[in-house]
Amino acid sequence: MKKKEMRSIMLKQLTEISDEEYQQLSKEIHKHLFSFSTWNKANTVAVTVSRGREVDTFPIIKQAWTDKKTVVVPKCEPATNTMEFRSITSFDQLENVFYGLKEPILSETSAVKKSLIDLILVPGICFDKNGYRIGYGGGYYDRYLMDYKNDTVSLALSSQLINGVPIEAHDVPVSTLITEHGVMK
Ligand SMILES: Nc1ncnc2c1ncn2[C@@H]1O[C@H](COP(=O)(O)OP(=O)(O)OP(=O)(O)O)[C@@H](O)[C@H]1O
Ligand SMILES: [Mg+2]
Repeated sequence: MKKKEMRSIMLKQLTEISDEEYQQLSKEIHKHLFSFSTWNKANTVAVTVSRGREVDTFPIIKQAWTDKKTVVVPKCEPATNTMEFRSITSFDQLENVFYGLKEPILSETSAVKKSLIDLILVPGICFDKNGYRIGYGGGYYDRYLMDYKNDTVSLALSSQLINGVPIEAHDVPVSTLITEHGVMK
């Protein structure tokens, strides 16, 4: 499978970046995001809780709270490869599930419906300049975005941009990419 190969090559390449460089690039990406109009006007933002070499989203979540935005994070349903977003007001409302993934605790959070989410930060491993994406392979975001009408942005290191992301009928591109070099619509 082509997507599968490309995922594993990129994931390996990302582990070869030093901690210092990764933190520096994440900071530059944060700066571009925080001055992007779509971010500034969004009241409710959907963010994943980053791990590994994903662009660090902890400062993004903190900034959103400072700006009085509502922060919603995904709760996955592996049986159906679907997810919902639940509002968090503190990192204490997260619990570790599988593979070090942090998810909202059901009893301490409530679901927010799709139409109320102004902006989704969509995770991914490889991207092309048209916003197509190779994600983690579950199809969770492709399913969720099928009938989502508001803004989507992916944050990526410029080294995650490649030519020739394989596109399948179910893949939904994001409208904006932000790398350390800036915003690309
Ligand atoms: N809208 C959909 N309806 C039904 N199946 C889907 C849909 N979207 C994706 N899938 C299925 O999900 C699987 C994974 O898709 P894909 O490889 O594109 O994942 P991905 O984009 O990397 O994951 P994610 O969307 O979670 O970031 C595929 O087998 C695909 O057929
Ligand atoms: Mg996909």
